[in-house]
Amino acid sequence: MRVVSIVGARPQFVKAAAVSRELRTAATEILVHTGQHYDVGMSDVFFDELVIPEPDLNLEVGSGTHGRQTGRMLERIEEVLLEERPDWVLVYGDTNSTLAGALAAAKLHIHVAHVEAGLRSFRRDMPEEVNRVVTDHVSNLLFCPTQTAVDHLGAEGVTEGVMLVGDVMVDAIGLVRDRIDADRLRRLRVDGPYLLATLHRAENVDDAQRLAQALGVLAAMPERVVIPVHPRTAAAMQRHDLTWPANVTPLAPVGYIDMLTLVAAADAVLTDSGGLQKESVLLGTPCITLRKETEWVETVDAGMNRVVDLDAQVAREALEELRGAHNAEIERVFPPGASGRIVEALQGRSSVGQPR
Ligand code: UD1
Repeated sequence: MRVVSIVGARPQFVKAAAVSRELRTAATEILVHTGQHYDVGMSDVFFDELVIPEPDLNLEVGSGTHGRQTGRMLERIEEVLLEERPDWVLVYGDTNSTLAGALAAAKLHIHVAHVEAGLRSFRRDMPEEVNRVVTDHVSNLLFCPTQTAVDHLGAEGVTEGVMLVGDVMVDAIGLVRDRIDADRLRRLRVDGPYLLATLHRAENVDDAQRLAQALGVLAAMPERVVIPVHPRTAAAMQRHDLTWPANVTPLAPVGYIDMLTLVAAADAVLTDSGGLQKESVLLGTPCITLRKETEWVETVDAGMNRVVDLDAQVAREALEELRGAHNAEIERVFPPGASGRIVEALQGRSSVGQPR
């Protein structure tokens, strides 16, 4: 079996690390990096830490408007697929790299498998939502992390090839869990009680007013806030002539293990990232989600996450309510082993719909 895996953005490197390990025991994997993320701190560090094999190809597409970035990827991925003629194209998540990989393959009648299928925010003004919906509708195997995701697909009439496999991010954390240690905090110069924040969603950082409101949420926190700053956010801060509030300590982007260490030791996480909501809940740290909705409703149902948008007052109340929250059942909600189930399904060894 030959599989072309397409990755391009930070969270995809993490997910591919878990799946790739299993995949390479059963198949020939050709790893394609679109080049959507290219800074050392946004890309290389993940490959090094997670011991992901060097990409076989880097398409070096870089940043750009949605059409230009996706168009460049489409053209180059098509060339790769014509050359490699794989049995499967494996795509992850909801980025422009995901959409380009899925579309290029579908048009060549090459089977597409989507890891993290079925997630929905029901907001078509989010680029990620458009990417997910289109990717799901051209995929042959749809690997869902949760029953909610399976149900969303069903509501859109997508039932064939849908499998509930669990979340590969659980496996990714498992790969590095024993390397999370306090020494990393010292190296990052983070000590004492703190809240960890991240902000990068277009809907929060591109618009000056929304970004100022997000800074207002951080400023209203009763503790120090540590924030590794995504380059999109750094650029927006400059463009809008905004400065970090006095209680906020900005850091350069950090690698995966440093990030998990920061999450595990924080009193709470404030974030607009999807992945971080799960990582914080899985590591036992409560989460406050700086968005209008979440795709990961299970983390809210588990009593570990609250969705507050950019309301400082509500965020403060959520922090006090969630302080010390704990859910011993979280492994039942997010069981490990998704990566193995995905590889079995690609090999045709597990019957669709009966993954467990
Ligand atoms: C992308 C994904 C988003 C995902 C996120 C993870 C899409 C539509 N969005 O958002 O779903 O959660 O990745 O981080 O695919 N930049 C750099 N160096 C880099 C990469 C980006 O400086 O290595 C800057 C550039 O100014 C670029 C901007 O960040 O224009 C945005 O990058 P882009 O890849 O377009 O989207 P993300 O915001 O990273």
